[in-house]
Amino acid sequence: MHNNSRRGFMGKAFGAVAGVGVLGSLVAMKKSWDPLPSVRAAGFTTLDMSIYKEGELITEQWRGKPVFVLKKTAEMIEKQTESQEKRDIIINGSHFMVAIGLCTHLGCIPAYKVDEEEFLCACHGGKFDWSGEVTLLPPPRALDIPPFKIEGNNMILGEIGPEFKAMKDSGITL
Ligand code: FES
Repeated sequence: MHNNSRRGFMGKAFGAVAGVGVLGSLVAMKKSWDPLPSVRAAGFTTLDMSIYKEGELITEQWRGKPVFVLKKTAEMIEKQTESQEKRDIIINGSHFMVAIGLCTHLGCIPAYKVDEEEFLCACHGGKFDWSGEVTLLPPPRALDIPPFKIEGNNMILGEIGPEFKAMKDSGITL
């Protein structure tokens, strides 16, 4: 009788210790699955859109990819077509072309020719206009627009805001 209750107590104590051990292991495993804070932060790039100059192409980085940012000039806005305009990202009244700087054909980085106001992909001769639309094949589609969210003067690449969602839903970008 005495032995039985002792065995029962030992069993419960062992079970409790094992339970704590399993819980500890699960917590440790969960921590190792979660991305590090630095990795999470690396998924987003915040751009201050007030610093760009009209007509000047700046190449930013997002998740290791080049991202073209071009603040359009008044002449560009004036002469652009409806489909070019649909790709505009408008922040505090300024119109921007923001696109992943990789050719949609085979992924080369197109160069911007300021005088021609176009991007030329040297790999196979593809061309894109200042809005990122294809003007000469073989690229199969316009330059992709990265997911973005607008917050005041800032554009957060990697977050999905209503403006990006609308572009994606209407097929303007992938
Ligand atoms: S990779 Fe750009 S045209 Fe082929």
